[in-house]
Amino acid sequence: MWNFFKKKSPSVIGIDIGSSAIKVVQIKRVGEKAVLETYGALALGPYAEKEVGQATNLDTDKIVEALNDIIREAKISTKTNGLAIPFRSSLMSIVEMPDVPNKELAQMIPIEARKYIPVPISEVSLDWSVIPTDKFSESKGGKKFPTKNVLVVAIHNEAFKKYQEIVTKAQLDTKFFEIEIFSTMRSVLSQQEKAPVMIFDMGAAFTKLYIVERGTVRASHTINKGSQDITSAIASSFGIPIADAERLKRGIGLSKTDDGKSVVEVVDLTLSYIFSEANRVLINYQKKYNKAVQRIVLVGGGSSLKGLKELSQQKFGTEVSIGNPFDKVEAPAFLENTLRGVAPDFSVAMGIAIRRLQELE
Ligand SMILES: Nc1ncnc2c1ncn2[C@@H]1O[C@H](COP(=O)(O)OP(=O)(O)OP(=O)(O)O)[C@@H](O)[C@H]1O
Ligand SMILES: [Mg+2]
Repeated sequence: MWNFFKKKSPSVIGIDIGSSAIKVVQIKRVGEKAVLETYGALALGPYAEKEVGQATNLDTDKIVEALNDIIREAKISTKTNGLAIPFRSSLMSIVEMPDVPNKELAQMIPIEARKYIPVPISEVSLDWSVIPTDKFSESKGGKKFPTKNVLVVAIHNEAFKKYQEIVTKAQLDTKFFEIEIFSTMRSVLSQQEKAPVMIFDMGAAFTKLYIVERGTVRASHTINKGSQDITSAIASSFGIPIADAERLKRGIGLSKTDDGKSVVEVVDLTLSYIFSEANRVLINYQKKYNKAVQRIVLVGGGSSLKGLKELSQQKFGTEVSIGNPFDKVEAPAFLENTLRGVAPDFSVAMGIAIRRLQELE
């Protein structure tokens, strides 16, 4: 039987250590398909004497303890992995450079990057890629000369050191580190998509926005409010503990409570702030590139909030969908609903796992 000869790969894991929760997925290749083997999420709040759903700032030993716990709970059976680096540990800018061969660019970029990166270049690791463009710049004499837009990414060496220490202590075999933005792009966008898309990643303390066009990041922004601010607003308005507010939020989302209280009203201030910041980013993009974002993809645990998709569609006046990274893998049919419910949480971890699998081909 041909099935017998189907190409199989070893299992790989994608790890996302978020500020409020660790997410892991394990996948492998069977024939042409990537197959989901196991996945799991673990709230970090309880490791920091905080509630579930709250952002933490744990030392490496506590993170290792939590990582070992989730690896055991999710029955992860391999050590080979990639690991996500938080967006906040990176600096990203789009730099206009002369149209010279990449070899020359490689020498020019570290020098040019000094203008854009507010920390000494020796404290970061630089990476860059050319953004396809047909733009011409005006030279002083009015003549046009071609330029290249280059996405320059810097990661704090301190962040590398911290995550290296974590995986070493957890005895994992980490093949690469990747800034979470690239992982999410891989797991929720299609490579064929040409029009600009905005990824809206609502975590616990922050909401991260990335505008992606033709597979390249064109703009990014971090809003200093996230899903824990929604919980706090519910807790203080309803006079209930954070843990109860978190349960209520995850249970009914933006609907009315049994006794008729309106969640939408009490979280309006927080959500309006987030939406208006996001709108500002959309408008700036449109002005700069003379192109509108065509659709918005919601990811991150905060995007599981019931009613958020409909509300954001209304606020943005643009097509909004909830990212489902599990679409990229095959999973048992009976899990379909469960997976859809938690899908936005796993965008980063799944993107990492897919890259690791691709590297094995
Ligand atoms: N079903 C749900 N409904 C509403 N909110 C939810 C739900 N599930 C999780 N959340 C919220 O999502 C937030 C966590 O999201 P996520 O796991 O993406 O954050 P993180 O990755 O830890 O944060 P960051 O990426 O900012 O470091 C928490 O504040 C939690 O309350
Ligand atoms: Mg996250």
